[in-house]
Amino acid sequence: VITKIKARQILDSRGIPTVEVELFTNKGMFRASVPSADPSGMYEAFELRDGDKGIYLGNSVNRAVKNINEKISEALIGMDPTLQSQIDQAMIDLDKTEKKSELGVNAILAVSIAACKAGAAEKEVPLYKHIADLSGKTNLTLPVPAFTVISGGKHAGNNLAVQEIMILPTGASRFEEALQMGSETYHHLKAVITEKYGAHGCNVGEDGGFAPNISNVKEGLDFIKEAISRTGYGEKIKIAIDVAATDFCKGTKYDLDFKSPNKSGQNFKSGEDMIEMYKELCAEYPIVSIEDPFDMEDWEHTKYFSGLGICQVVGGDLLMSNPKRVERAINDSTCNALLLKINQIGTVTEAIEVIKLANDAHWGVMISHRSGETEDSFIADLSVGLTSGQIKAGAPCRGERLAKYNQLLRIEQELGDQAVYAGEDWRQSS
Ligand code: PGA
Repeated sequence: VITKIKARQILDSRGIPTVEVELFTNKGMFRASVPSADPSGMYEAFELRDGDKGIYLGNSVNRAVKNINEKISEALIGMDPTLQSQIDQAMIDLDKTEKKSELGVNAILAVSIAACKAGAAEKEVPLYKHIADLSGKTNLTLPVPAFTVISGGKHAGNNLAVQEIMILPTGASRFEEALQMGSETYHHLKAVITEKYGAHGCNVGEDGGFAPNISNVKEGLDFIKEAISRTGYGEKIKIAIDVAATDFCKGTKYDLDFKSPNKSGQNFKSGEDMIEMYKELCAEYPIVSIEDPFDMEDWEHTKYFSGLGICQVVGGDLLMSNPKRVERAINDSTCNALLLKINQIGTVTEAIEVIKLANDAHWGVMISHRSGETEDSFIADLSVGLTSGQIKAGAPCRGERLAKYNQLLRIEQELGDQAVYAGEDWRQSS
């Protein structure tokens, strides 16, 4: 049973406070910490921050920590850690708000993850196996990693509007090989960028992708194409883009120069212009997935583009991992893949439920990190246990990103002969 819960404030990969918790049972101590990002909308769960500008610029999380140490502890001590849904429900009942704004999603999620780890230990099974049991899945699959290799948008200080360009080693036969392919491409890319922009072109963005001062997405794609050709992997590596278009939507237009001091006016695009641009990019480069190609409220263009069937269309900001928005998008055929960020929804149980919605609709599922990450590798086990088929955890570089990818290596080794890498079936989450 749960005997003690103790939380503290730690810092995330951006140097901003977040919550860490230690949950104790008779089997030992189980630690979890939660990721974070700038809140991007009203549809996600509420992150509780203290707001005192004199302390960590208003970002400290002492109230969330206190909520764990007092209210949540009191409610959960004595509970069986294998009963994940009851634990999560107890916190939801205690909170009583739709967006978890009373206790804070940062408090609730930290405890939910720690309890999940404790539940696995209680059953003496690996974490991914426990997660699979909780969700009723029997087939464990290592996901295809989507490595961010070029960063832009709000994640980097260059002029590139799109937030991420990623590579997916779908042609690898094992996860270990995928990681090697990702790393080699990343280092070749570093050389390609250095040849054109010098060493400062290889400064990195928040998730570890290079951030050369380019403004045109094609220039980034050309760099990646060249890097892939230097590796010799050819078609085994595909490309994905996270446009994060909400960040540069102005009224009904999209401002591809939103970070540029010298705006020509030529890059102020309509939804139709954006569709033409995506069609062209997909024809010219091996792009297999585009996330948030339009504003989070621009369901019409997203639906139209998704209906063209050119590539996977992922709802990140569009869906906010919110079951109501996911259901609406399924009913309306707005997109065809879910980006799941656990801190947008807030408990392990609810994450499992929203993935089930996506599975039932035969959507793709990409489990995602946040720009503010910690060394917690929970989403690696989550992606295997829930057979997501895809995971996006940043570049194959920087500790908080590698925490997830390295954990996937360990899981693959542990599974041995039974390990299955999603590979070409990356869109078939089941
Ligand atoms: P965010 O971005 O955490 O800043 O929202 C994460 C992502 O979509 O890569």
